[in-house]
Amino acid sequence: MSKNQKYKAAENRYEKMNYRRTGNSGLLLPELSLGLWHNFGAKDDFENSRDLIKCAFDNGITHFDLANNYGPPPGSAEKTFGKILKKDFKKYRDEMIISNKAGYTMWPGPYGDFGSKKYLVASLDQSLHRMGLEYVDIFYHHRPDYDTPLEETMSTLDLMVRQGKALYVGLSNYQPKEAEKAFKILKDLGTPCLIHQPRYSLFDRWVENGLLDLLEKQKVGAICFSPLAQGMLTDKYLKGLPKNSRALNDSPFLNKETVLEMMPKIIALNEIAKNRNQTLAQMAISWILKDDRITSVLIGASKTSQILDSVKAIENVVFSEEELKKIDVVLR
Ligand SMILES: NC(=O)c1ccc[n+]([C@@H]2O[C@H](COP(=O)([O-])OP(=O)(O)OC[C@H]3O[C@@H](n4cnc5c(N)ncnc54)[C@H](OP(=O)(O)O)[C@@H]3O)[C@@H](O)[C@H]2O)c1
Repeated sequence: MSKNQKYKAAENRYEKMNYRRTGNSGLLLPELSLGLWHNFGAKDDFENSRDLIKCAFDNGITHFDLANNYGPPPGSAEKTFGKILKKDFKKYRDEMIISNKAGYTMWPGPYGDFGSKKYLVASLDQSLHRMGLEYVDIFYHHRPDYDTPLEETMSTLDLMVRQGKALYVGLSNYQPKEAEKAFKILKDLGTPCLIHQPRYSLFDRWVENGLLDLLEKQKVGAICFSPLAQGMLTDKYLKGLPKNSRALNDSPFLNKETVLEMMPKIIALNEIAKNRNQTLAQMAISWILKDDRITSVLIGASKTSQILDSVKAIENVVFSEEELKKIDVVLR
């Protein structure tokens, strides 16, 4: 499609995706959601970013995840997304779930970080302005702040809902103990926590030690980020380190050394995936989706071909005992 042609979403998009209920709420989320942490910054190719959003939406991915600091520079992913919404998605706003977060460093001085009411209120106002939106569907506190009273942070989330700037609220990167306290405060305020956003992948299974049990017990949804361990759980590094990959792009979050260290496990997991007739990316995603405590898997992508590969994960989310054992042996 040429860049000046009017975008019309694929008519069969909802047949291509499954939707799961988020905790105890009325909200259904797609089994795969798309995050804008990478590939939507000021220096990224705008037409590619635009194609990624269209490709996701055409495949039933209705949920797009942002944060104030996504870019680089911080704030630029929101601007890119706002531009795409304005150009292509005006009439689809009510078919989209857009989330945003604050909690990491956003601007200098004592009011641009962590979890004070001062920071969170200003940050959401700025984010709405950059995206050209009146409200977000989900607003998260991005990480716990041990110096601000939890009551202050949670009552700010409640305030945002009451002001109509967010429909639902969530927490990210909270450990089970602090999450449980926060859930109680939010419930008492009348704004129950919708969803928790932790990191979870074959390579990082910390949520299995209590968090997922807590979410199930409290009927809070779970959306897992970095399910592909930022690209390591795909076939992209099997033949070496491609240019334009996150590991070779000066990312502070993934480097060549980590990829090389994990390579024996990546090769062994790829063999298991092949026997399931899946790519490694598909298996890594379906391995998370096999657990019905999970609401959605939050992927990233630099190319539309990656989205098209990853969405096929939903076709096979059942694992035999033998497959699970083999995977555990590799990961040991
Ligand atoms: N709450 C938090 O603290 C937090 C933290 C991190 C992320 N997140 C959220 O989670 C989202 C996803 O995180 P992530 O980007 O780390 O997720 P990821 O899905 O683990 O990694 C995405 C990267 O993997 C590669 N990739 C994806 N699909 C592929 C495929 N099918 N075949 C080959 N390579 C593939 C691409 O790497 P290349 O770019 O190298 O091509 C892509 O950029 C973020 O955008 C953000 O919304 C939240």
